Parts: sequence; C-alpha cells; structure tokens
Amino acid sequence: MKTETTIQGLAASLNPARAARKIIGFVPTMGNLHEGHLSLVREARQLCDVVVVSIFVNPIQFGPNEDFDNYPRTLEQDSQLLAEAGCDIVFAPSVEQMYGKSPRLTNISVSEITEDLCGLQRPGHFDGVAVVVTKLFNIVQPNYAFFGQKDYQQLAVIRQFVRDLNIPLEVIGVPIVRAEDGLALSSRNGYLSEQERKTAPVIYQSLKNAEQALQQGEKLSEVLANIKAALTQAGFVVDYVEARTPELQKIDEFNQEIVLFVAAKLGSTRLIDNMQIKPTA
Ligand code: PAF
Repeated sequence: MKTETTIQGLAASLNPARAARKIIGFVPTMGNLHEGHLSLVREARQLCDVVVVSIFVNPIQFGPNEDFDNYPRTLEQDSQLLAEAGCDIVFAPSVEQMYGKSPRLTNISVSEITEDLCGLQRPGHFDGVAVVVTKLFNIVQPNYAFFGQKDYQQLAVIRQFVRDLNIPLEVIGVPIVRAEDGLALSSRNGYLSEQERKTAPVIYQSLKNAEQALQQGEKLSEVLANIKAALTQAGFVVDYVEARTPELQKIDEFNQEIVLFVAAKLGSTRLIDNMQIKPTA
C-alpha cells in the first residue's frame, strides 16, 4: 500500500492504472477508522481493481463550536487497518494541499434536502462536504465512490450533486455497521463516557421498536413520539426524530418505504442513526 500526500504524487501513482483502464474505487474518510469505514473499503475491493482511500479532516465542514481541532488524527493506526482491508493507495493531504493559500471563492450548495435534519443544527456543513467531496472526486477521478448509509443525509446530498453536475462516477451506499448491542459505529462514539456508551444503544432499540409498531399498524406520528419519549427518558437531548421518503421528502403516513431519522445528544456527544423500513404487506 502506498501513501501519497500531494495531488501530483497521487496522479503519478494512479496514471498507470488509468492508462490500463483499471476500475478505480474511492472511499473518502476523515480517518479515525472503524469497522464501518473498513466495510466501505472491502466493498470497494470487491468491485474495483484499484482502491484509493482519502484521510482528510476537512476544516470547512465543521462549525465554529464543533470538534475540528480535537477530531482524532490516527494516521498510523488507520494505515495499518487500511492495508489489512485491501486498500492500494492512501491519500492523506494537508489542509494547504487541498485548499491552497489563496481564498476559495467557489461554493457548492445543494438546496432543499440540506435545509433541515442535520442541516438545521449544522449550517454550512453540507456545503463544506459538497466542496471537499467534489474536489476529491476531481483529484482521484474514480469510477465508483463509496459512502456509508449511516450518514444518510450526506449520502443523499452527494448523490444529488453528482447527478445535478454530471460528475462521471457511480455513488455506492453501503449499509450501516453496528456494534453487537446495535449502536451504529461512528468516530464520535469514542467521545462517550462508559455510562453514556451503555445508554447509547437505546437509539437502535427505539428504532427497532418503531419498526415493529409500524408493521403492526401503529400511526407514524405516534411511533415518532414514542421514539422521542424513549430517548428523553434514557437521558438523551433529542435534536430530531423524523420520517422521510428515501429521497428525503416529508411524509406523514407509513404507506411506502420510509427512513426514520434520529439525532440526539448524550452529554456533549451528538449521535445520529437511521433505519429504512418497508411495509411488509
Ligand atoms: O463522512 C465523512 O467522513 C466526511 O463527511 C467526508 C465524506 C469524508 C467528507 O469530508
């Protein structure tokens, strides 16, 4: 496995593969890797000839009170995990390599689907994601790009601008990887205290209960209220509990496939999760 830290170096490493028309798979990450990221790399390994993983903590997607400075940077450990998972090239640029010295005057902003859910609490976040992902797509020029369904809204935003801007690649969404107790794997789980870590699976349990209640015919509004109540009772401060269509349109009845979304804070850690549910009958 090679590690490249410059755009030029990465191009030199990838040029032979491009010339040989190899299929290039790309997994963008911010490092601090866990099984969720590694499942993306394994999926890429299955589908592609060359697997590139970027590790870049992107400053422009963090709000002023978010954890950019403290975000864990664990390149050595990440590199070892990536080599074992079958990555060919790690791209780990500096902020200066990605953004240069002169000010950036171009923004990429996806409307409507970024305006609520996580977009409400994190203004500008999805613009920051759209800019860096577009830059990475242009730098790596992959055939396939892999993203986790855990960040469902992010995945929907990326699919949208790839379609809107005719970016020539296919976006692949990979299912959520969960701990044994159901907690969705996330780099931010590491911020939880021992006690909070024990409470955190209540999110998944309340989503599973919701799925069962919906399949038994309970009203969607009641099901959402029950999730909120269960989380509040367990000590979470709920940001949102919402139901949407898979394309993120608002919905108030369970008469088609839906996605339930939860964002809630446990202490100072904000956790998100989601579950796709199809009517059985
Ligand atoms: O999901 C992430 O880790 C980041 O938002 C991404 C897609 C790597 C962009 O910085």
